[in-house]
Amino acid sequence: MHRSNPHAKGHLSQRSFLNAVRLERDRVQNFAAYPFCVPAIQRLQRLEFHPAVTFLVGENGSGKSTLLEAIAVKLGCNAEGGGSGLQFATHDTHSPLHRCLVLERGGGTPSDRFFLRAESFYNVASELEKIEAEFPSRIPFEAYGGKSLHAQSHGEAFLSLLNNRLQGNGIYLFDEPESALSPQRQLSALTLLHRLVCEHSQLVIATHSPLLLAYPQAKIYQLSEAGIAEIRYTDTEHYQITRDFLNQPERMLDILLSSQDDDLKSQT
Ligand SMILES: Nc1ncnc2c1ncn2[C@@H]1O[C@H](COP(=O)(O)OP(=O)(O)O)[C@@H](O)[C@H]1O
Ligand SMILES: [Mg+2]
Repeated sequence: MHRSNPHAKGHLSQRSFLNAVRLERDRVQNFAAYPFCVPAIQRLQRLEFHPAVTFLVGENGSGKSTLLEAIAVKLGCNAEGGGSGLQFATHDTHSPLHRCLVLERGGGTPSDRFFLRAESFYNVASELEKIEAEFPSRIPFEAYGGKSLHAQSHGEAFLSLLNNRLQGNGIYLFDEPESALSPQRQLSALTLLHRLVCEHSQLVIATHSPLLLAYPQAKIYQLSEAGIAEIRYTDTEHYQITRDFLNQPERMLDILLSSQDDDLKSQT
């Protein structure tokens, strides 16, 4: 499978706002405490970003959100999500990782930035609505598709934010954006992602979605016990497990469910 599409707009002209992130290891006080005890962070030296999209994959708990959040804080975004103008905190739980990170900037300055995390999207939506109420625009909720984010489903709100609020020429960080989206909407998100890239944006996305991961102008990093390593799309578990399951669902179900059946039989 080809990972790059030479016909894609923006393919050749893409330049990085962010070249890399580096962990200043001598500034870390305690590698035995969170977040530095997380293996992917503990072994982090320098991670180069793709000028278009960099994906972070890895098991639950492998450190994707911790790393993404620290990059977001370093960029001046709110740790719970939002752009640079959004400074609120419902939970003050973000880690001190950002204090030991250095961002290596590339050429140009982004005119937009946004950190979108599925788990605190509700709080971001509330905060955006508060701001909207304080500064009523001529068209209510114009930036969010003409409708309050809370009056939309989670998936709809997510997509209308992507569609309307993100202006391009920006740096965007998304944490599991697929979690609210149907497969069809994940395909719409892919189209949107490409629109943002064509508008000279750079994105870093933590995801479990085999659909989003297929985006061709991207680098994929896998976080694991062994650290952080680049991986090809077709070598990811996301791709392989989904492919194997969909190719032979009955066989996979037989294997998965028969071990459970054996357990049940041995208990009776
Ligand atoms: N505030 C915290 N304090 C202590 N440990 C945490 C905290 N937040 C996350 N962790 C732990 O750090 C590890 C990485 O978490 P996280 O970055 O959320 O993983 P991922 O996003 O890849 O699922 C997990 O083992 C998690 O339990
Ligand atoms: Mg996470």
